Amino acid sequence: MNILIIGSGVIGLSTAFELALAGHRVRVITRNYEEGTSWVAGGMLAPYSEGLEGDLLEFSRESLSLYSDFIDRLSDVARLSIYFNRNGILRLAVDQEELSLIEKKLSLYARLGISFQKLEVEELFKREPLLSKTLMGGVLFEEEGNVDAEKLMDALLFACENLKIKILIDDITEVELKDGRVESVKGYRETYRADFYVFATGSWSRQLLKLPVFPVKGQILKVKGLELDKVYYSKLAYIIPKENHILIGATSEDAGFDRRPTLGGVKSLAEGSIKVIPSMEGAEFLSVKVGFRPATPDEKPILKLGENFAYLVGHYRNGILWAPISAKLILDFVERGVVSPYFDKFSDGRFKT
Ligand code: GLY
Repeated sequence: MNILIIGSGVIGLSTAFELALAGHRVRVITRNYEEGTSWVAGGMLAPYSEGLEGDLLEFSRESLSLYSDFIDRLSDVARLSIYFNRNGILRLAVDQEELSLIEKKLSLYARLGISFQKLEVEELFKREPLLSKTLMGGVLFEEEGNVDAEKLMDALLFACENLKIKILIDDITEVELKDGRVESVKGYRETYRADFYVFATGSWSRQLLKLPVFPVKGQILKVKGLELDKVYYSKLAYIIPKENHILIGATSEDAGFDRRPTLGGVKSLAEGSIKVIPSMEGAEFLSVKVGFRPATPDEKPILKLGENFAYLVGHYRNGILWAPISAKLILDFVERGVVSPYFDKFSDGRFKT
């Protein structure tokens, strides 16, 4: 099949990759393949640390279970190794309120057979001597993971090239619909036609698709100088070790598409990380980046299947985690006509009255 993907973030490229690997002729249209929020993501695979439940939890667990094979397949085709592990994430409480919030979810997670270790302060400080003694406790979610999102994006671009996926630079401004089918998409440079269209337009979906998706600005720092073996997640900051650096994420700001990093953002993340791990004070500052999480009013994605098109948008805080399952939904439909129940659960119909 001749497939057109609009958007080159992790969702668009993962879908392009899986479809091309299955033998389809795939093109990706992007106005700027470095613009996507995926390049700025922390790369935590953290459904439990994020406190997800219900459909989102189910969706996340399914995607997490696909991750290892997805990374293997992708590194093979891209011929690039991708920093990825399932060393667990230590969810920390900086005060009583945060502790209660974390504990509230534990009985649900235990019932679902999710493995975690609840660590009272004595045990926590014995195991983790770097942590500040002001913390109130923590839970180690042993199955959670960490992937280097920049490496993942590099690998997706390399894989696209190796699979002969064409990446076209254009800005799609109009979708021509007729009787519920997409007839074409129009860019500045030309009009494009395909057998099937996938819109993975992230924070920019409101303008093109009239969907309730809006940007939530996130600033993230890159530092180096400490040896850490897992992610430390608290509401003040998450400290995320990669191969040769550490990320400190992330602010959450209602600031539209304001691309400017701010001193306030840098300060809150730096202070937050030092409150959790005091020796972060000596870390070398490398950079700050800004991205735009594609949020929806209920923080769930919008997954829609039309006759010859699909929307995969609104992945908010979990685009990296939800990439394998999002791509699989499209692959299952295109290859075998399977319509996943997630298209119903996360349909845009929920916003229409
Ligand atoms: N998933 C973490 C964040 O969006 O900040």
